[in-house]
Amino acid sequence: MSLLGGMCRFIQVSRTTGGSFGWCVGASLRRRSKASAAALASSPSPEAQENRKPKTGILMLNMGGPEKLEDVHDFLLRLFLDTDLMRLPVQNKLGPFIAKRRTPKIQEQYSKIGGGSPIKAWTTMQGEGMVKLLDEMCPDSAPHKFYIGFRYVNPMTEEAIEQMEKDGVERAVAFTQYPQYSCSTTGSSLNAIYRYYTNKGLRPKMRWSVIDRWPTHPLLIECFAQHVLKELEKFPPEKRDDVVILFSAHSLPMSVVNRGDPYPQEVGATVQRVMDRLGHCNPYRLVWQSKVGPMPWLGPQTDEVIKGLCQRGKKNLLLVPIAFTSDHIETLHELDIEYSQILGEECGVENIKRAESLNGNPLFFKALAELVQDHLRSNQPCSRQLTLRCPLCMNPTCGQTKAFFADQEL
Ligand code: FES
Repeated sequence: MSLLGGMCRFIQVSRTTGGSFGWCVGASLRRRSKASAAALASSPSPEAQENRKPKTGILMLNMGGPEKLEDVHDFLLRLFLDTDLMRLPVQNKLGPFIAKRRTPKIQEQYSKIGGGSPIKAWTTMQGEGMVKLLDEMCPDSAPHKFYIGFRYVNPMTEEAIEQMEKDGVERAVAFTQYPQYSCSTTGSSLNAIYRYYTNKGLRPKMRWSVIDRWPTHPLLIECFAQHVLKELEKFPPEKRDDVVILFSAHSLPMSVVNRGDPYPQEVGATVQRVMDRLGHCNPYRLVWQSKVGPMPWLGPQTDEVIKGLCQRGKKNLLLVPIAFTSDHIETLHELDIEYSQILGEECGVENIKRAESLNGNPLFFKALAELVQDHLRSNQPCSRQLTLRCPLCMNPTCGQTKAFFADQEL
């Protein structure tokens, strides 16, 4: 057994985080952005946004992805050192070792999807669209300014908070860009905010609150439903009724699921609402992608489901990424190349398509703006769900972070 193989039982992240979570910059981004670019034509330029004194700062939280191939190593290094995401034995030694070892493979995947991640470009576009709407919808809390806080690449969450404090923001909203909550993703970003202040021994000057989940927001559901319908239209009419819709979300190790992580239930809630909105037009399944290593992960796995359905004569498939809102390496490489092209051909699919990610959809900008508007109006520091730790949580920082947000006076 190789050294890496021997370590696999400890590695409970995706093959992209152990794999990638990245996004492709390039022609597809530019193509898909045309409509939204028109919608944004009258929005303040990023420079204008930079220069105005914000009253409300919205920190858009995400994992981020390497923009260039040379960023891949540092992205992986930060990821493998994140103890909120995974626990490894002697992590400060093993993490750098795995990051270095995996870098060439992940760089190769990024090179196949255009050479880097478009997550910053998409998030910037979404932030601009959201803020423009918010300034019109919520004059009392204007001007609004968005900040990007990534966990593993620049702009890092810590730098964004520093900038917000420097800008004199009065009201800060930590807004997760993952619709469904997991302690490994949103939880890790919130812990980073808490640690920023405790490590520096500072009290925030801003009043903080958090939008910690939004799996069933009506406009999110509408966006997903529209993208499903648009893709269904591309199947031959005589096959359309036969299409199986596969909602695919990033999987989790069962050790995370079994400590009580809310993610599987919240992803299921999104799927249910989307299918309700579609009038249950087609049969569907919720499937899970990106498992790595021999330890048990939440299934069924997307690739195994594709094979199984083809063997049973169901050869018209529509893949729908349901747990990320922008394109990333799990859509552009795993779904589009590994599953749709390579595996699809091996299995003899008739038609396999993938619903477009929400990316630059102006309705999605509206969803983001409404979420912030409703949140500000609620005057609540966080959801009730955030206040409950996973029943088998062993990470003390989770409890401290939850108290930090729940105790904020707004
Ligand atoms: Fe979920 Fe700590 S792991 S609250």
